Amino acid sequence: MSKIILDVDTGVDDALAIIYGIESKKIDLLGITTVSGNVPLHMTERNTRKVLRLIGREDIKVYPGADRPLIREPEYEFRVHGTDGIGNALDDMKIENQTEEQFAADFIIEQAKKYKGDLTLIMVGPVTNLALALRKEPKIADWINEVIIMGGLVSMAGKGNKLPNSEFNIFADAEAASIVFHSGIEVTLVSLDVTLQTYMKLEHIEKLKGTKYYDFVLNSTKVFRAFSEKQYGTNGCALHDPLTIGYFLDPSYIETKKYFVDVETVSPLNYGQTICDFRNLWKKEPNVNICLNVDAERFIDDFIETLKQA
Ligand code: RIB
Ligand code: CA
Repeated sequence: MSKIILDVDTGVDDALAIIYGIESKKIDLLGITTVSGNVPLHMTERNTRKVLRLIGREDIKVYPGADRPLIREPEYEFRVHGTDGIGNALDDMKIENQTEEQFAADFIIEQAKKYKGDLTLIMVGPVTNLALALRKEPKIADWINEVIIMGGLVSMAGKGNKLPNSEFNIFADAEAASIVFHSGIEVTLVSLDVTLQTYMKLEHIEKLKGTKYYDFVLNSTKVFRAFSEKQYGTNGCALHDPLTIGYFLDPSYIETKKYFVDVETVSPLNYGQTICDFRNLWKKEPNVNICLNVDAERFIDDFIETLKQA
């Protein structure tokens, strides 16, 4: 399996993805890069380091990235992730921000050069850091194996979570997503079309009772679950970011197919929309592997089992 850089905007489901990826014991994680997204950059850094302490893996280095999108103003999602970004579940844990000096985009370039053809990026926040890295060193498009991005929606017009046709990560920096989609890198987009089928509900969380992560999973997801119930009528935490890790661990969870996908960066109604040309009307070369369906139950079971065995 290739080496991994995980890019996060920790956030509740980012935290679950970090735990799941590390506890799977199947990923060779070179480092974690952080980006402004769900909450401001300094909070994503602090939250990521808190989660690494919870896991017992503070040896994993955290590299600070962009503290804002390329062009627009940040729009945070405290209503989903809580005032601190992880549902205030680790408020008692005091941690100083000792992130690495090296900027995330420079770390991505350095590692892509060092591990040409053997590096996969898993990105579960806005893709600002990769866009910056591509602008500084375009050759990384040939050096990076694949970038697996949690983002977008392609077959569910009107069911976005930021605008009717836009998903948060792509909406948060649509210009960055456009740069990445048109870079020539092998892109797989784990979109709301499949992640919204992976709701972790209380009945799943209860299976963790008495294990290392029960308290954190129950407490960190409280705000997220309540928001989902109010907004979408389902009391649960959609495992957006963990499924993105899951796809890397076992691609058989998701059926994918390559199409031409572009990103809306102008329209106020659809800013951040990921437009999939299923009928090839634009006659353009397919550039993104999109997700058609997911074995949600098997994935959720594996997610819970992995955390249970920790
Ligand atoms: O739309 C869901 C995505 O936006 C997830 O990655 C969540 O953490 C937020 O970043
Ligand atoms: Ca995220």
